[in-house]
Amino acid sequence: MKKIAVIYSFNTNKTAKIAERIKEAFGEENVEMVNAEELTAEKFAEFDNLILGVPTWFDGELPNYWDEFLPDLEEIDLSSKNIAIYGLGDQVKYSENFVDGLGIMAEILRKGNANILGMTSVEGYEFESSRGVEGDKFLGLAIDYENQGSKNKERVNAWVEQLKKEFS
Ligand SMILES: Cc1cc2nc3c(=O)[nH]c(=O)nc-3n(C[C@H](O)[C@H](O)[C@H](O)COP(=O)(O)O)c2cc1C
Repeated sequence: MKKIAVIYSFNTNKTAKIAERIKEAFGEENVEMVNAEELTAEKFAEFDNLILGVPTWFDGELPNYWDEFLPDLEEIDLSSKNIAIYGLGDQVKYSENFVDGLGIMAEILRKGNANILGMTSVEGYEFESSRGVEGDKFLGLAIDYENQGSKNKERVNAWVEQLKKEFS
């Protein structure tokens, strides 16, 4: 397995904690942590295996640091990239936009022909609607710190085991 970039904002609290858990589960030597707030197209291009940490903000939108990188991302040929996304959201307070960021990011990655990995079941969550869902699957891993924080560890570990098989 090639080295995996875990890209997330180093200024976050919850998104960063999940990134640390992911690193632990993969083993430190298998991942490189990359700050999404300083991300360049060149850095992104260095990796074929990537994990993106994407909280949903502003009632169904990406945080600014991801928004700012999107024009660069749209220029990159993603056809050789295996990309998994984890999304943070609050299914009670933002039930109509739960982890929308997963869907927004997946749509952009698909336009660039990326191979999206790490889809997970919607079972165990309760929400009205989400752009992050396709059929009965999230387009990545959904983490709800606010309401289901006690499940984080188990969810991340299961996801990493799945990704170990899906990344090449
Ligand atoms: C102003 C604000 C808007 C939010 N909007 C959404 C939303 O639309 N959908 C959602 O699922 N979660 C939403 N959330 C919840 C966050 O995604 C959640 O708290 C997440 O854990 C934040 O992660 P971070 O602190 O690492 O950025 C919102 C939170 C805040 C404070």
